[in-house]
Amino acid sequence: MSDKNATITFDNQSIDLPILKGTFGDTLIDINPLGKLGDFTYDPGFTSTAACESKITFIDGDRGVLLYRGYPIDQLAEHSDYLEICYLLLNGELPNKEQIKAFTKNVTLHTMVHQQIYQFFNGFRRDAHPMAVMVGVVGALSAFYHDALDITDPKHRETAAYRLIAKMPTIAAMCYRYYNGLPFVQPQNEYSYAENFLHMMFSMPSEKWVSNPVLAKAMDRIFILHADHEQNASTSTVRLAGSTGANPFACISAGIAALWGPAHGGANEAVLNMLHQIGDVSRIPEFLKRARDKNDSFRLMGFGHRVYKNYDPRAKIMRQTCHDVLAEVGVQNDPLFKLAMELERIALEDPYFVEKKLYPNVDFYSGITLSALGIPTNMFTVIFALARTVGWISHWSEMVSDPSFRIGRPRQLYTGAATRDFVSIAKRSS
Ligand code: SDX
Repeated sequence: MSDKNATITFDNQSIDLPILKGTFGDTLIDINPLGKLGDFTYDPGFTSTAACESKITFIDGDRGVLLYRGYPIDQLAEHSDYLEICYLLLNGELPNKEQIKAFTKNVTLHTMVHQQIYQFFNGFRRDAHPMAVMVGVVGALSAFYHDALDITDPKHRETAAYRLIAKMPTIAAMCYRYYNGLPFVQPQNEYSYAENFLHMMFSMPSEKWVSNPVLAKAMDRIFILHADHEQNASTSTVRLAGSTGANPFACISAGIAALWGPAHGGANEAVLNMLHQIGDVSRIPEFLKRARDKNDSFRLMGFGHRVYKNYDPRAKIMRQTCHDVLAEVGVQNDPLFKLAMELERIALEDPYFVEKKLYPNVDFYSGITLSALGIPTNMFTVIFALARTVGWISHWSEMVSDPSFRIGRPRQLYTGAATRDFVSIAKRSS
């Protein structure tokens, strides 16, 4: 809080609005007093609006900073692993040995899905987009778990968190296996979280699956980098859905749906599609010209960000991970990666991109990395949703555990018709 006020004056009145200060001194003006006077603010896309208070993640777009519970993302990506990050985001502190052992066991023991869920998949066309299947199956989980849906009960919230974190890799892998006509693979408790996912994705009944520690580490790092990102579009969707008292599975399903859009979590799939569309280094200038053209809807996918006006700190780490995977898989000279590097180099020198501060975001490299891991483009956003589930559930839990939380209900600027009387069809002009 702060002891200062902001004063706004309009219609011959002055209103004092409290100034709020965050941990890093970011200044926010509390506009609640306006509402009490029947006045609203107008901010389509919430570019200048904080919808909540949170202690989970901090982003500084100008300095390219991302902190999970105060820890810099580069340190976490270097020294931690995804399940430890899950504990950190959910509980606010890094776990000690006993805590991470218990947490890992709880997640591990929830990785299987109810056998009836297998029937859901048979209802989908084989060529259904895996995100469509994911939205449906995750939303339907609440049909199975009546025993822990009281959002006011901390134990129920904890159980829902375990179930969602544990089952997302199993469901994601099932989406991939079903699309490709392959038998589902059961989770194996001997594997780490990332290894288990790769095992469920790629193991074949006809041969022994062997884990590759470099690829498993890269997969775990991709999960870490995508785990949370404060009030992005899908997290805000989860919070708004949760503010109505909806169960956590329904809220996470809403978040998955919001993430699907190409401007958000669908960007990594869109990056690969764009690179294939460009096809050759010689065509980069043509596409940069289109990206600069206001009359052309083409956007350079994987570039720009609503908050980061400096380099996306995740992109730096993702770029190195991308190199590691390409080297391990032996495709350093992958034409798509070389095209991506040349596109990055040219775009970062282009005056339009420099002036508008459009830098590569995490999605620019994650798509190429996932492709090198053998994951098809239609699974990229599914993996983003898998990783982001812990962020969504952390924000949902932070909100519903605050006794003062209220249903979210944005207002509008109405510019439609003024009041008018009904006209019978006989009297309407033809
Ligand atoms: C994610 O919010 C999050 O935190 C999201 C995310 C997360 O972890 O949850 O970080 C994940 O969604 C990353 C972003 C992935 N999306 C893409 O890569 C799609 C391509 N990027 C654009 O669609 C765009 O950059 C957005 C949607 C990401 C941001 O859009 P904004 O808020 O409109 O961007 P801006 O206001 O900073 O744009 C400034 C200008 C605009 O032109 P003017 O109106 O000023 O003339 O730059 C233009 C934009 O039109 N612009 C681009 C561009 N991105 C912005 N022009 C060409 N190519 C682009 N990629």
